[in-house]
Amino acid sequence: MRHFLDLDLLKPDELALILDAALDEKTNHKFSKQAALSGKSLALVFEKNSTRTRISFQAAMQQLGGQSFVLDAGTSQLGRGETIADTARVLSRYVDGIMLRTDGHDKLEEMARYASVPVINGLTDKSHPCQIMADLLTVKEHFGDLSKRRVVWLGDGNNVAVSWVQAAVAFGIEMVVSTPDSMQIPSDVQDWLANQGGHRVSFSNDPAAVAGADVVIADTWVSMGDEAEGEQRLATLEPFQVNQACMAKASEQAVFLHCLPAHRGEEVTDEVIDGPQSLVFDEAENRMHAQKAILLWCFGLIGG
Ligand code: CP
Ligand code: NVA
Repeated sequence: MRHFLDLDLLKPDELALILDAALDEKTNHKFSKQAALSGKSLALVFEKNSTRTRISFQAAMQQLGGQSFVLDAGTSQLGRGETIADTARVLSRYVDGIMLRTDGHDKLEEMARYASVPVINGLTDKSHPCQIMADLLTVKEHFGDLSKRRVVWLGDGNNVAVSWVQAAVAFGIEMVVSTPDSMQIPSDVQDWLANQGGHRVSFSNDPAAVAGADVVIADTWVSMGDEAEGEQRLATLEPFQVNQACMAKASEQAVFLHCLPAHRGEEVTDEVIDGPQSLVFDEAENRMHAQKAILLWCFGLIGG
């Protein structure tokens, strides 16, 4: 079963193949011309809000000739306590694939354990692999390569940062994760990283780590589920704001990425996110192209 749960669970050459297919589809409409997912359907299950993930998956399925169905926790039996395991077994009788956005990563693993169709991680509290496939596609399109770039993450060591670390390991990308000491990526991911040979990921608690960056990445300082400690987090993270002074320390050719939604005036200023170095809307568009390729891989239409 080809689940897409986390980037470290796929071989780097499979990830590269998915990125190549995404680019082929974006450039030549290779798979939509063939209606490659004709007859296939996908359930999109949301226990957290979404704009991009929801619509980019629906558009991807439609453009590839397939169908999608959205299930929100608030309007389904999930919201009344039906288990993930039972939901997985029921949905598997109706559809060919399931995407889940949820809080606990263990719920995603439970969905994959009980589903008899491929399961895709649409964001958990641990990781957001579909987003980083879109980010990698954006970097590859812009620079023409991945592994030669210095990537600097500034802010909270959150779910998006974790998937970026896994991608940096897979592709041998030089990456600095710069966070306050209290907001480092989870210790189990640090332990995993310590066992990966030859990676080029390092950690810093100094926003000056942005020096020489080709790719500067920020994300919200208050992820979904972190709202209770919001005010305190904002104060701690203030030195990590990506503003013009920060971008001036990066390389001359540096680009800015943000998965969106942005909190303008917090993690990033208007000048940067609306400025010439920002690729955030290409990045948002690339969610759809990357996810088309992820779907093709999950359904066994590309890859070995
Ligand atoms: N970047 C991202 O996943 O956006 P949504 O929360 O809108 O899906
Ligand atoms: N880190 C953010 C990403 C939103 C797409 C969150 O989890 O809320």
